[in-house]
Amino acid sequence: MKRILITVLLAIPVASWSASSSDWPMQDFDGDLQNLPSLQNGFKLYANYCMGCHGLQFQRYERTADDLGIPHELAMKNLVFTGQKIGDLMTTSMPREESKAWFGGAPPDLTMVARVRGTEWIYNYLKTFYVDDNRPLGVNNKVFANVGMPNVLLDLQGVQRQVCNGDDCSELAVDPGTGLLSAEEFDSAIYDLTNFLYYVGEPARLERQRTGVFVLLFLIILGSFTYLLNREYWKDVEH
Ligand code: HEC
Repeated sequence: MKRILITVLLAIPVASWSASSSDWPMQDFDGDLQNLPSLQNGFKLYANYCMGCHGLQFQRYERTADDLGIPHELAMKNLVFTGQKIGDLMTTSMPREESKAWFGGAPPDLTMVARVRGTEWIYNYLKTFYVDDNRPLGVNNKVFANVGMPNVLLDLQGVQRQVCNGDDCSELAVDPGTGLLSAEEFDSAIYDLTNFLYYVGEPARLERQRTGVFVLLFLIILGSFTYLLNREYWKDVEH
């Protein structure tokens, strides 16, 4: 009896966790903070498609441009659309109260979203918007059921629909010729966008990885000198 009780108690958190995550077959996401072209493209996509609704309130334009190797003038001209200055925090101009009424919920700040949701979740979320006429905005999502966000990626990806086999609707397909990007190009754009949000979640990580490489190089060089010195000292003793 006791054993059954323990088993049941242990199973509860696992069961509630799996109920809250969707059963959509998630594709892996492997972030790469060393890939500056990917992060730059992600920043560009974010500025064009997301910034209007989602701020990054703990992140500054200047820090982002510096980390990603973008000259300030170029960033100001091409990535800052909100009339802000390079030293400003990347806040959105979307009014909070109105947006609640428009979308049923205010678009959350995304500075920490990669930490809270995980990069794999974001990557799959952005790829699985599909047509659903029962929703107020005509769109639903496989990873975030009944989401309030409109499908802002529609013109890039094209019109994506469910493919159902009876009750099983675990496949999505894009109407050919409806998007600006091919399937591969769209995947790679979403990779970059997710990679950018991964970076935003922890800019210090980029710095740390770079420092890590220098520390390792330093240890290797120091190690080889120590080795040579050691050999030099013992040379006369051994012979
Ligand atoms: C027109 C406004 C609008 C735009 C533009 C927009 N979103 Fe959203 N987004 C929303 C709203 C509203 C929600 C909240 C949905 C809900 O809670 O049902 C949301 C939710 C999200 C979430 C889930 C956050 C969470 O943890 O619950 C992510 C991630 C996200 N958006 C990413 C993006 C990205 C990336 C872009 C740019 C490609 C983008 N959004 C563009 C309105 C927008």
